Amino acid sequence: MLNDMAIACSCHGVRDRTVEDAITAGARSVEQVMGLCGAGTNCGGCVPTIEALLDAAGVADTAVSLTSSAA
Ligand code: FES
Repeated sequence: MLNDMAIACSCHGVRDRTVEDAITAGARSVEQVMGLCGAGTNCGGCVPTIEALLDAAGVADTAVSLTSSAA
């Protein structure tokens, strides 16, 4: 677990803890975290942090990075 008080997404002021709560609520990908708490929906700079939180929770089975979605 990362610092509970740390800001995961500075664009929206979403804390790491809020992202973890989204994961607890069922988010299994960056896109699902985005849908639940809004983190990652502006500049995308926090996507690596969201991915790290998904990895730390051991649930990142379909994590999609904004940087790797172009095909
Ligand atoms: S820091 Fe999260 S969208 Fe910009």
